[in-house]
Amino acid sequence: MTQHDRLLIIDFGSQVTQLIARRLRELNVYCEIHPYQKVTDSFLADFAPRAVIFSGGPDSVMRAGSPRPPQSVYGLGVPILGICYGQQVMMQDLGGRVEAGEHATAEFGRAYVEQADQGDEFLSGWFQGGREQVWMSHGDHVAEIAPGFQVLGTSPGAPFAITADPARRFYAVQFHPEVHHTPNGRTLYENFIRLAGFRGDWTMGAYREEAIAKIRAQAGDGKVICGLSGGVDSSVAAVLIHEAIGDQLTCVFVDHGLLRQNEAAEVVAMFRDNYNIPLIHADESDLFLSALDGVSDPEVKRKTIGKLFIDVFQKHAAEVGGAEFLAQGTLYPDVIESVSFSGGPSVTIKSHHNVGGLPEKMGLKLVEPLRELFKDEVRALGHELGLPASFIGRHPFPGPGLAIRCPGEITREKLAILRKADAVYIDQIRRHGLYDEIWQAFVALLPVRTVGVMGDGRTYDYACALRAVTSVDGMTADYYPFTHDFLSETATRIINEVKGINRVTYDITSKPPGTIEWE
Ligand code: XMP
Repeated sequence: MTQHDRLLIIDFGSQVTQLIARRLRELNVYCEIHPYQKVTDSFLADFAPRAVIFSGGPDSVMRAGSPRPPQSVYGLGVPILGICYGQQVMMQDLGGRVEAGEHATAEFGRAYVEQADQGDEFLSGWFQGGREQVWMSHGDHVAEIAPGFQVLGTSPGAPFAITADPARRFYAVQFHPEVHHTPNGRTLYENFIRLAGFRGDWTMGAYREEAIAKIRAQAGDGKVICGLSGGVDSSVAAVLIHEAIGDQLTCVFVDHGLLRQNEAAEVVAMFRDNYNIPLIHADESDLFLSALDGVSDPEVKRKTIGKLFIDVFQKHAAEVGGAEFLAQGTLYPDVIESVSFSGGPSVTIKSHHNVGGLPEKMGLKLVEPLRELFKDEVRALGHELGLPASFIGRHPFPGPGLAIRCPGEITREKLAILRKADAVYIDQIRRHGLYDEIWQAFVALLPVRTVGVMGDGRTYDYACALRAVTSVDGMTADYYPFTHDFLSETATRIINEVKGINRVTYDITSKPPGTIEWE
């Protein structure tokens, strides 16, 4: 269990609960999100938060049986911040009144809050230039505040936009300070954690020391194996574990023949040469490519690769002999149990490739040293551990690799063309200084041949599509607005430098309705 000051976020099902945690982590506060169903009196006592935040949520406090925190939360003597639905819950629990939303009082989108009262610490740094822009998204609203509360800010649609009971350090806002559309929202979180007495002790330097101690305690003198994909997460996990237990760790890097140009060599060099981490480099490209021969269905491709990956990993891991633990780069967003109001499982859009199922099959225990971190914290930890910046900043690359960037049947010839085109495209992006602005960029080789003319001759070659998107978490994405000059220069370079491609297109689909990868 961590020694840090802890903040508890009780999740009532808002779409943006994770953003609250992001804002707090940026302020060096350790916080965890837990669904309201799990937060019982004994949970609260064990967790011992220094402060609590109630998230927003889609329900109505007017409905019998709507989500509630345990009432003991109000007796903990710690500051509480209620957001949107969280504000309404707090007001109703403490003797105020909430009214059901009518069209006239519901408020969605940008709004402006005016200061209603002076001098509370919670407002420090607010209203300095007059009113503040905020993001509202509510149907119901507070009609009467609870005894002991005062109004600090109002908006036309929310007379009780900011409310406070300073004696008990309870604060409640109708808007969402965690979203970017509330530009000064971070200040409210800063004020809240300052008045809760947080020391700001959540830093990557401290995390590194603690994680190392935990890994040592967990692994003892047992052996750990780690599957490396060349991505940031598994690499940071491997370097951290190596720092903790040295040669008790062996990494297995499975080259499925679907990697980008020079990728295998770069990963191997980084681990063997820079870090001297024991590494099994398993070149299994023949095996994977022959299993994929003639396969064109995307799901069959993904399942074939996923299953083979497990078999191959297991085979090579056995060479290590007597491993007790499997290391994985699982991140916090993967382990948050979000509140689901629909209840049912979501539809499978794509079968994601991972090593799930392996630990049970091999009788291995899991070591997951990044379980508490968000992606950008993993990058910060990578810097802390001295991984090269160029490596840490790399765009995500999917487990099934180029197989899902080559719609239709995969051949070695097509993969070679795709690798070259992708390398030219990424080189262009780097030369123009755009790499770090883009979440992910790649080429998809289309299963289409088109007629062209080069010099005096006719060509009949493949068409390719360039893809580049911006995104925060890969869940939604926008296509990147390259200039026409950039696009035409890149198209010219690809056609001139890559034999086998005579036409270049740019994919301008966002996600949704598209996905980032083509398959
Ligand atoms: P999509 O294509 O679903 O991708 O919009 C969202 C993000 O996930 C990556 N991706 C994968 N990553 N295994 C992975 O590790 C997979 O099977 C996989 N499929 C997609 C994709 O590259 C993007 O960053």
